[in-house]
Amino acid sequence: MASTLLVEQHPIYELIFSRRDVRRFLSRAVPEAALKRILTAAHHAPSVGFMQPWNFIVVRDPAVKVKVKGMFSAENSKGARRFRGKRRALYEGLKLEGITEAPINLCVTCDPKRFGPHVLGRNTIRRTDVYSTCCAVQNLWLAARAEGLGVGWVSILRNDKLKRILGIPPGIIPVAYLCVGYPVEFPDRPELESVGWSPRLSLDRLIFLDRWGCLAP
Ligand SMILES: Cc1cc2nc3c(=O)[nH]c(=O)nc-3n(C[C@H](O)[C@H](O)[C@H](O)COP(=O)(O)O)c2cc1C
Repeated sequence: MASTLLVEQHPIYELIFSRRDVRRFLSRAVPEAALKRILTAAHHAPSVGFMQPWNFIVVRDPAVKVKVKGMFSAENSKGARRFRGKRRALYEGLKLEGITEAPINLCVTCDPKRFGPHVLGRNTIRRTDVYSTCCAVQNLWLAARAEGLGVGWVSILRNDKLKRILGIPPGIIPVAYLCVGYPVEFPDRPELESVGWSPRLSLDRLIFLDRWGCLAP
């Protein structure tokens, strides 16, 4: 398998391939120093015009988590209704969050006005602020894996309600709601792949040469 060869090339590949979206957590606390290290990794992500548009809301209060979980449950039921038959049954069997079990929840936000209205490199593609914030999330996700910590991204939420729960001011965009803690396990494969929800696509079919749609010979 190509991934085995890459792991022999450099430890970064092992980290990339062993990162998982984690939804089952142990109750063991996350050491403050480890949390600080993964947030530092996030803060060293690339950002358009070195804008660093992110903030990190560290949620520990069980009452706040319960509110977010309630919102998740409502949105998840609506999500399930979009599927029929076997696919619906499969969806309903999935665990798609670990909000209340995870010792820490983290909301990563984006401030589109950081450093004022004009940001170097952001005149044309305005959403590069959000792209930058996603880079921070990925840095955090990988650093957490190196620390033996699991991260699960929960997007089955409504940003307007999340903003009210967390007191996020107008104009600030919640980009990611993450559950963080020591995992029950790091499975070898994505759970959505192992339960048969979707397969990993063939990389060769995704690489085009010179123009959209032209597969390399
Ligand atoms: C933007 C984004 C949103 C996601 N939202 C959810 C979610 O709401 N619930 C969930 O269980 N997983 C969520 N995931 C995790 C994906 O399902 C997961 O990354 C994918 O199945 C591949 O698995 P892996 O991360 O373990 O490699 C999200 C991932 C991303 C990048």
